[in-house]
Amino acid sequence: MPNTGEALVREQILALVREYADTYHTKKIYQSGDRIPYAGRVYDSEELCALVDASLDFWLTAGRYADQFEKEFAQYLNVPYCSLVNSGSSANLLAFSALTSPLLGERRIQRGDEVITVAAGFPTTVAPMVQYGAVPVFVDMSLPSCNVDVSQMENAYSSKTKAVMLAHTLGNPFNLSAVKAFCKQHGLWLIEDNCDALGSMYRMASGLQMTGTVGDIGTSSFYPAHHITMGEGGAVYTKDPLLHKIIRSLRDWGRECVCPGGQDNTCGHRFTGQFGTLPQGYDHKYVYSHLGFNLKATDMQAAIGVAQLKKLPLFTQQRRRNWSVLRDALDDLSDILLLPEESENAQASWFGFLITVRPECHVSRNDIVSALETAGVQTRPLFAGNLLRHPCFLALEQGKDYRIAAPLTVTDQILLNSFWVGVYPGMCEAMLREIAAQIHRAVGR
Ligand SMILES: Cc1ncc(COP(=O)(O)O)c(C=O)c1O
Repeated sequence: MPNTGEALVREQILALVREYADTYHTKKIYQSGDRIPYAGRVYDSEELCALVDASLDFWLTAGRYADQFEKEFAQYLNVPYCSLVNSGSSANLLAFSALTSPLLGERRIQRGDEVITVAAGFPTTVAPMVQYGAVPVFVDMSLPSCNVDVSQMENAYSSKTKAVMLAHTLGNPFNLSAVKAFCKQHGLWLIEDNCDALGSMYRMASGLQMTGTVGDIGTSSFYPAHHITMGEGGAVYTKDPLLHKIIRSLRDWGRECVCPGGQDNTCGHRFTGQFGTLPQGYDHKYVYSHLGFNLKATDMQAAIGVAQLKKLPLFTQQRRRNWSVLRDALDDLSDILLLPEESENAQASWFGFLITVRPECHVSRNDIVSALETAGVQTRPLFAGNLLRHPCFLALEQGKDYRIAAPLTVTDQILLNSFWVGVYPGMCEAMLREIAAQIHRAVGR
């Protein structure tokens, strides 16, 4: 704790930071003709003060703010264990790698084992499988949700299947009841890539649950576009103490000891254990139970996250409200544009507003996107669209490195005909009305 003199100076610095933020980081009022981004950071002096406070500690690596974030984020999600990491992609890598741990015995994923997933989404939901030598098995998507078509999962199953790893598309939950039941029936792990769905809820038979907490492991991203941000950042969460232990070990260099970084012998067994074929009493801090990574975030990132987390419930409401405004304003175009529908049993914390251009529409997706971008409305495709068509997949061998369980017809429709616009909390009603007006203009109605 800072002594009194230090505390006083820190207070003065933070008061100045607050003044700076209130003066120079004020939100620009939207004027007609301004660019309308698909996403953006929403923050105020609280985030800047937290960041500077953490900087003044100069602890640099994960410290008190990381502990606080992990605790509060776990509480928010209603899970016992959360591990902060440096990105959503790291979170996915860690979640997948955890399932390859020898500590899981028969259930561990080994090279050549299969994992059911989809190709329309973000690449780093799938990349860890390939990087490890597991085999992604692709099933198609369903419209309008642009989520996994659960009716194809049974057909994708083989004696080698060990897990299912899927993202909730742009905040709209996939059919968690069906996917969970499928995993239970076959004894499979379920990783929920929750990077685009923080704050979404799903009604399971047992009650309403946050997405990311129904499967064995959930992941989040705190990249600036996401529901809350730390700049770069992510999290991995679970209810399973063994998975948590593995996740922590893999995140922190693969080590065996769970003592916090920078602290010695909090476990009380630093020089008393015997591991592997190491000599008795070898320093526990340097015993490695996994071949791990270092995926930790810094305390400066965590401090921003602590401030952002307080705003998350309001952000979720605003995302839902913005989505509804757009949905209503575009409803009259539903004969030519396939508009998003909230999944059954779900309360989506929308990441974006996904539109699929119907064959009935006389204007192509590319023409609509080009008109919107020219008018200053930022758009995005559904990330990779169809990951299998990307250069990174061309070097891989179908049937050996990956498997396609059923024709990816809808995936290709999404690749060709879908795009999305923003609903982030920094948007005002005038921006949403402008997006709707520009879409009407682009399709000539
Ligand atoms: C579904 C999904 N998973 C993972 C990621 C990766 O997150 P990050 O950019 O923090 O690595 C993203 C990024 O947007 C994403 O949309």
